[in-house]
Amino acid sequence: MNQIISDNELIPIYEVFKQKYTPQEKILLDELRENLVDIAISSGGNIQLNEDRLLNDIKNFLYSRFSLESNNISNEYIASLSKKLLQDITGYGQIDPLIHDDDLEEIMIIGVNKPVFVYHREYGMMKTNIVYKSEEELIEVIDAIARQINRRIDQESPILDGRLMDGSRVNATIPPISPDGPSLTIRKFKKDPLTVMDLIRYNTLSVELAAFFWLCFDGLGVKSANAIISGGTSSGKTTTLNALTAFINPKERIISIEDTLELQLPHEHVIRMETRPSNTENRGELTMNDLVKNSLRQRPDRIIVGEVRASEAITLFTALNTGHSGFGTLHSNDARETITRLTNEPMSVPEIMITAIDFIIMQNRIYTSNGASFRRISEVAEVVGIEEGIVQLNKIFEWNPETDTIENVCITSNTLTEIAKLSGKSLNDLYDEINNRQLVLQFMLNHNIRSVEEVKQMLELYYKNPQKILNKILISGSA
Ligand SMILES: Nc1ncnc2c1ncn2[C@@H]1O[C@H](COP(=O)(O)OP(=O)(O)OP(=O)(O)O)[C@@H](O)[C@H]1O
Ligand SMILES: [Mg+2]
Repeated sequence: MNQIISDNELIPIYEVFKQKYTPQEKILLDELRENLVDIAISSGGNIQLNEDRLLNDIKNFLYSRFSLESNNISNEYIASLSKKLLQDITGYGQIDPLIHDDDLEEIMIIGVNKPVFVYHREYGMMKTNIVYKSEEELIEVIDAIARQINRRIDQESPILDGRLMDGSRVNATIPPISPDGPSLTIRKFKKDPLTVMDLIRYNTLSVELAAFFWLCFDGLGVKSANAIISGGTSSGKTTTLNALTAFINPKERIISIEDTLELQLPHEHVIRMETRPSNTENRGELTMNDLVKNSLRQRPDRIIVGEVRASEAITLFTALNTGHSGFGTLHSNDARETITRLTNEPMSVPEIMITAIDFIIMQNRIYTSNGASFRRISEVAEVVGIEEGIVQLNKIFEWNPETDTIENVCITSNTLTEIAKLSGKSLNDLYDEINNRQLVLQFMLNHNIRSVEEVKQMLELYYKNPQKILNKILISGSA
């Protein structure tokens, strides 16, 4: 535990224990810092990628220093001190403990002489006891981050946008564009990502809706439905997208394209692509659109665009209209606005092409009065066609805020009808299949089968022999 939390304040406090060193250890730390350049060179010039070696060097350094003074030093002490020193040297300084706390969603530094804020998964917005006292100190951290990811931040390019070694997303700005001082925002990467089972447990979606999605996205192998996940900033779009990819048919070849890698797909057959910004020295920019265009030459079954924003939209929709499947997220507040945004500048997708989307999934973040929040899929709409130039939507699921449940509000889904037609089954067959899958998901929920790997394995077992799994569930009586 490197922190205590007190939540009886208006804004709860997150207190970090500072690394404590004895005066002698402090001297060693300073000495090590000075020697860092030598050590860095001897570890191949790349401290981050060679942590093991650096740790070894630090250990050797400590042994040599202590052997001059006394022989009463235990190996355990050297081992733990080297680890502490390593963390201090290669870590992110004061905010290092925050970066290592998986319960934090976001770390926010808004300038100097102000507390660093964090967004905690349970407590919501919190104030930490960390304060940067000078711009230099803060810029040092930002510079260190920039160097790690081979970018730079300076007057010429005062915005840094990228990804830390651990996958966390980072954005930093310096004056003049943030006149009050440097800012740093880190969206933490969750090592154990939220899966569809977690989202069901949090009530972001229901078992029924998940089973419906499962059938539509794997499409029984005859049609894999497309979807755009829409919502406001930080509403959980990417998380929902990531979770729903579990339902993509295991036979599909997937190409994912993102500005910063966030998606963690369970599938074997995936090519992950990342755009390259223009401020990388001596190298040309590679935009989302470049990569989507390129993906079409890679024989994709499904193209996943992390966030649809600009001209790549039209390339993506061209792909969807020529038989590829797709997934993407988009920033908007309701299903109608999603269409409006897609069909206007800068995306400019012609209305007629929009009909290639099967579902618009609206994701919402709802704040409670104590500053915490929860996330819900608030609406699932189908794009059913186009009439007099206007895209027609059909709401099929809707969240009821009074009962906090997602209700099925439509008689028949077009997508289901199409899957039935293409697979030669009746709609009732499909409803039975959805029911069966609902049993499987409910079983997984009851038995806490939730990690990416567990979900993947369970789904594969079901695909291989559905009846066997269903019998097992029915016998255990715990569906
Ligand atoms: N359904 C959920 N329940 C609880 N926490 C969630 C849920 N969805 C997302 N989160 C958490 O919320 C944070 C933001 O989620 P995410 O990145 O998916 O949002 P986003 O809408 O894609 O954001 P952006 O607008 O920045 O792209 C993450 O830390 C994630 O772990
Ligand atoms: Mg996102």
